[in-house]
Amino acid sequence: MSSLADQAIAWQNNHLVLLDQRKLPNQVQFIECAVVQEVVTAITDMVVRGAPAIGVTAAYGVVLAAREAYKQSPDAWKERIEGDLLALYQARPTAVNLKWAIACMRDVIATIQTEDPEAVLLQAAQKIHHEDVQSNKALGQYGAELIQSNSNVLTHCNAGALATGGYGTALGVIRSAYAQNKLNKIYADETRPWFQGTRLTAWELLQDNIPVTLICDSAAATVMRQKNLTWVIVGADRIASNGDVANKIGTYSLAVMAKQHGVKFMVAAPTSTIDMEIINGDEIEIEERAHSEITHYKEHAFGPDKAQVWNPVFDITPAEFVTAIVTEKGVVEAPNRGRMTALMKA
Ligand code: MRU
Repeated sequence: MSSLADQAIAWQNNHLVLLDQRKLPNQVQFIECAVVQEVVTAITDMVVRGAPAIGVTAAYGVVLAAREAYKQSPDAWKERIEGDLLALYQARPTAVNLKWAIACMRDVIATIQTEDPEAVLLQAAQKIHHEDVQSNKALGQYGAELIQSNSNVLTHCNAGALATGGYGTALGVIRSAYAQNKLNKIYADETRPWFQGTRLTAWELLQDNIPVTLICDSAAATVMRQKNLTWVIVGADRIASNGDVANKIGTYSLAVMAKQHGVKFMVAAPTSTIDMEIINGDEIEIEERAHSEITHYKEHAFGPDKAQVWNPVFDITPAEFVTAIVTEKGVVEAPNRGRMTALMKA
């Protein structure tokens, strides 16, 4: 682990330590979570965000929950922990990695007999964390193989080390392709309303001395038309069994524009983001967040109080707009249910 972004989630001195992503890029501050309620709040309040990152964080949250429950009742800790598992599960609704990580931790809980569960559960959480980094490196290579030399690419939101256990998904592909000298220009859009592109993606790439060009969200079509863009590369919060993709609001518009301009559209995600239990994207719950995220920037109001606001923070991109889904198990081109099923069985 090298850069600060790769240390955004860490287990130190028996606590979970999180880089507070709300403060970036102006302040690098870490917060300590000693109890599971602090982990739930950190996920809901976006201290940590990005689908794989909240999965990893929730896994460590289960360790803290088990510690407390076992201290209170060595005989009934498995029953006591249920409320905390539910709170973690509900901390954010769209990313399936949260549910996936809790299910993995539940499987481990089921194997524990009478002993103190902390050590075993910590080992399981660290394995989830480590494997996520390995997956990102593998999918980064697969994605880079699809990119031709001298490419200009655009990414949306932050699907980097900050959003994962480390290395990143969309930014994992970009890191790998950049290391292979295949990238001419990397565009990052600002990603209203949280500015994950401006605040996080630009910061994270520059930390690694990877040059980045920021654009307004509304400049994307012009970049496609004028700047010889070859790929849009995004992450995902959940991918349905037919290849429909839930990701940060604005992803769908980029996919539609990409198709119109003959730009290829890559979704980079570990298989922990794929939800084979749902038929299509219509079944994915889309999180809606506070109106103030649109009418305010931090404490500063710039929209009238009386305006009505709708703030869905993710959208669904139908599979037909996706050129390739890139995972650690390999690439699915022109995704559909048959190809997604074959990938998951591989
Ligand atoms: O609201 P956020 O910042 O959690 O949204 C994050 C995204 O939409 C990412 O693109 C997605 O989680 C993939 S992260 C590897």
